[in-house]
Amino acid sequence: MISACGRRPIMAVLAAGVLTGRAMRAWSESTFPMKPVRILVGFAPGGFTDYCAIIPGASGVVGAGLARYLAAHRDWRVIGLARRAPRERLEYPVISVDLTDAAACRARLGGLTGVTHVLYCARAAHAAPVKEPIDVNVAMLRNVLDAVEPAAGGSEHVHILQGSKVYGSDLGPYKTPAKESDARVAENNWYYAQEDLLIERSRGKRWSWSASRPHAVTEREPGIARSIAKLIAVYAAISKELGEPLCFPGTAGSFNALYQCVDITLLARAIAWISTAPACANQAFNVTNGDFIRWANLWPSFAQFFGMHVGPVKTVCLAEAMADKAPVWDRIVRKHGLRRTPYDKATVWSYGDFNFRRGYDVMSCTLKLRQAGFGDCLDTGRMFLEHFAHFRQQHVIPRAARAASIVRTHGGVGMKKTFIAPPMLMPAVFMSQSSGTADYPERNQTDCC
Ligand SMILES: NC(=O)c1ccc[n+]([C@@H]2O[C@H](COP(=O)([O-])OP(=O)(O)OC[C@H]3O[C@@H](n4cnc5c(N)ncnc54)[C@H](OP(=O)(O)O)[C@@H]3O)[C@@H](O)[C@H]2O)c1
Repeated sequence: MISACGRRPIMAVLAAGVLTGRAMRAWSESTFPMKPVRILVGFAPGGFTDYCAIIPGASGVVGAGLARYLAAHRDWRVIGLARRAPRERLEYPVISVDLTDAAACRARLGGLTGVTHVLYCARAAHAAPVKEPIDVNVAMLRNVLDAVEPAAGGSEHVHILQGSKVYGSDLGPYKTPAKESDARVAENNWYYAQEDLLIERSRGKRWSWSASRPHAVTEREPGIARSIAKLIAVYAAISKELGEPLCFPGTAGSFNALYQCVDITLLARAIAWISTAPACANQAFNVTNGDFIRWANLWPSFAQFFGMHVGPVKTVCLAEAMADKAPVWDRIVRKHGLRRTPYDKATVWSYGDFNFRRGYDVMSCTLKLRQAGFGDCLDTGRMFLEHFAHFRQQHVIPRAARAASIVRTHGGVGMKKTFIAPPMLMPAVFMSQSSGTADYPERNQTDCC
């Protein structure tokens, strides 16, 4: 049951686990004429290193963004793993496999001889407030390693995703800014268990491991529902339709506390860099945009962007308060000719409750990553405004409303129909002092958020 851009004959071949070397190349060149999956290890004749990454969790928020980024990069070949086949046509193959099933992993991944990197972005399904299961998450990672390691003789690196929960950020106020060298918290979690598995398993091997620790990964792809930018944009559209100002729906404590986010493309660049920089081997790195925000400081610019007044903090449980707003959303979609996004796919309200109700500072220090040589950073306020502008351009949320405004005309001051101007948007380019950016030239320039 392999999904490779919906080409079923290929599925059977891959499922049999016999697709190796030349066969893989021949298959990929006929399947993806625009971008063949070349399985090369070490140095190609042209003198550049060519990596082949499998990305478990390729349909998730982080995995999809990472796969999209690497697939557009000439040094990387990507194979995604997930249970569900993606609906859209992708530039890389996705193998459908249940990572909890060791036999299925061996059968479907055992033939992938050219894998150099496992960039592990999967996480077992869970529903808050239930803790993410440790044993299932560790078993999933182990099953991937058991299947890939014997076949991929040239494997170089395994990268896992962690998060600021590694510092206990979900347990209550904690020591901030959190550093990678901080002691583990008393409560066990799956991040520690996966890291311990890699430490143990990589001992004496030629491959190394690393971990990234992002927080509040933010996406601008319209299809990704679990993104704070999308949540705020949909919330603003509904509030405006109801004639309400833009109130902060979380707690006053969260409104004023320090917080952090990371843009998915910056995170993808960091993961690629960490996973290939020898100096980063066998270590973990915090990865955020590099600045700290207070929602209280950003909210007025958000309201201005959406053409709304700033309202007071109005603490609600979004999952409950927004549960009955589907008719409002459908009305907005019809009225503004937006792309048809079912309400339950538009955003994940409980994710807003998770992000807006902490009431204490959430801060990770990113000095270690910068001192290791990766200097990309991003202005988080501008990132949000750019994501909102992208949603408008993609017809995900309404365009700016027409309004009467005073403008200076040739004859003096007059009334004229015009658009309310959003705050000036400069491209939120990655500021980098590192070789991290230069090492990864893009096929095009559009992936900066
Ligand atoms: N999102 C964030 O804001 C954020 C912040 C900090 C850290 N992180 C870390 O980033 C990592 C990825 O998080 P995420 O938010 O991107 O996760 P996610 O969106 O929930 O995606 C999870 C992925 O795992 C796959 N998966 C789950 N069970 C599977 C199974 N049995 N077999 C095969 N695939 C399975 C899912 O695909 P199928 O369901 O199709 O199988 C999906 O692709 C995690 O380590 C997380 O802690 C994320």
